[in-house]
Amino acid sequence: MQQTLEPLITSAWLAAWDKGDLDALDGLVAAGYTRTSKATGATVDLAGLKSEIAAVREAFPDLRTTVDDVVEGDGTVAVFWTSTGTHTHEYLGVPATGLTVQTRGSNILVLEDGRIVSESVTWDGSELLAGLGIRPLRGIAAPAVSDGDDFPELDPDLMKAFNRQFITGVTVVTTKEGETPKGLAANSYCSVSLEPPLVLVCVQKTSSTYSALFSSSHLGINILGTEQLDTVKVFASKAADKFSELDWHEGPKGSPLLDGSAASLEAEIQERFQAKTHTVFICRVRHAETSSTAPMVYKAGRFFDGAELAEL
Ligand SMILES: Cc1cc2nc3c(=O)[nH]c(=O)nc-3n(C[C@H](O)[C@H](O)[C@H](O)COP(=O)(O)O)c2cc1C
Repeated sequence: MQQTLEPLITSAWLAAWDKGDLDALDGLVAAGYTRTSKATGATVDLAGLKSEIAAVREAFPDLRTTVDDVVEGDGTVAVFWTSTGTHTHEYLGVPATGLTVQTRGSNILVLEDGRIVSESVTWDGSELLAGLGIRPLRGIAAPAVSDGDDFPELDPDLMKAFNRQFITGVTVVTTKEGETPKGLAANSYCSVSLEPPLVLVCVQKTSSTYSALFSSSHLGINILGTEQLDTVKVFASKAADKFSELDWHEGPKGSPLLDGSAASLEAEIQERFQAKTHTVFICRVRHAETSSTAPMVYKAGRFFDGAELAEL
């Protein structure tokens, strides 16, 4: 009987995942069917599987799946598959990137009387995100492993007071949306390592620059100089065209670099870690420009002249 199952599995599978014909699965699974993700341990029933497929199809409407192999055993069938799709709608909290992603997986189906009673899957939705270069931070994205009641959340005012004791420079993080330059003021810049030259910046997901940054391969980071107080105010705002009064040039990959900055770099985005309200972009620096202009200094909501610092 098992020899006859392969075409049935393949056609129902493709009808559900590629065409959205979710009811095609009804004839394939037994009552009480369960599907368990090996990655997360989560188990869903047929309705859960259908809503999972619907969510993936909404985010990746042009989804195309190839069943690479079906290996039939004694009461089990292993299905190996590859799916490709373009990320055109929000998925697991990540805005559309327009990027095409490919993901592979395998499912072990347990059969009884020619129907699937259970299946285990070596794939979960976060693998699609990994294909987009996005990683949820463990312990932040997953509340199950938070310290919970043992450590109540820190008072936000105390956190603010702590941050106000920290002195930083100010950067403008830039990218382009089509041909339109976009950017925001950010002091979350941090050098990660010299070899390789990695830097990071944290960007709030509500920023109007966020979706352009998210789908960019490269970004610019400009360390503002003492003459750019007006510039920081514009980039800390939601102004429609923040570049209209500015002189700027492009880095080798087209990222806007602001003339008059203390230093500018262009970097390739390598990781996008999801951290609740923010995304941490880890970037590899590909190009840098420095000048003798003194940097602007930022502390507790005020800007200072970096040329006037008193050495201890
Ligand atoms: C000194 C300073 C530092 C800032 N740092 C950050 C930051 O690191 N990340 C961030 O998302 N927003 C930061 N902001 C806030 C954004 O610049 C601000 O929300 C801006 O309006 C975003 O613009 P957009 O929505 O047009 O992208 C900072 C603002 C200032 C004044």
